[in-house]
Amino acid sequence: MIKQQRILKPRRTKPLVWVFASVCAALALAVVVAGAAVISVYLAYRPKAPVVRVVSTHLDHLAYDQQEGLLDVLLTVDMEAANPNGRTAAAFSAAEFDLLFARTTTIARLRADAFEVPKNGTLPLHYVVASSGAKLEEGGMEKMQVGLRRGLIELSLRGRARTRWRVGLLPVKLWTHLDCELHYFFPNGSSPDLKDCTSKSH
Ligand SMILES: *[C@@H]1O[C@H](CO)[C@@H](O)[C@H](O)[C@H]1NC(C)=O
Ligand SMILES: *[C@@H]1O[C@H](CO)[C@@H](O)[C@H](O)[C@H]1NC(C)=O
Repeated sequence: MIKQQRILKPRRTKPLVWVFASVCAALALAVVVAGAAVISVYLAYRPKAPVVRVVSTHLDHLAYDQQEGLLDVLLTVDMEAANPNGRTAAAFSAAEFDLLFARTTTIARLRADAFEVPKNGTLPLHYVVASSGAKLEEGGMEKMQVGLRRGLIELSLRGRARTRWRVGLLPVKLWTHLDCELHYFFPNGSSPDLKDCTSKSH
């Protein structure tokens, strides 16, 4: 008779598995530590993206040739670059904004050389726009007729600027985009509202 013997060997964990398990534990710890570091830097610096916004604007002069659809304007646009970060300066560059009529005809391009805004500071950007002979397309001509009749002229300002600042030691680079409507009473040229004329970073 053959006696069946089953030898029960305790299952030993192989060294390789131990190594793997410790690497996993170390990684998990590293993730927790990195997360805590990110949160504490965030809380310490409370980073906020720098923005460009329109503070005020006025249409000083407008002449329109109905036959040819030619538009002359003289207007002022007062913008400002704002750095809401309390701990770090923000650098702006490649700032370029197009002033458009009916979203199609470019009246002027507003530019700024590279500049820096100190922490928790603002820098004014003052533009005087003089443009003559901008040719409106058919849709634009219609829109201008309606605007003159209603006494409300609408222009749009679209563009972007490159922003650079730091969160702790980390450099952050983002484009900030401006896309807003500027309204002017005609003929007095004052601007009734400027809501939502602040750029957004994305
Ligand atoms: C930022 O500036 C404003 C006014 O200029 C001031 O009231 C505020 O306390 C400043 N904040 C920081 C964090 O420096
Ligand atoms: C400009 O004209 C509009 C509409 O006619 C009027 O509501 C506004 O008060 C005027 N603004 C100024 C500064 O005269």
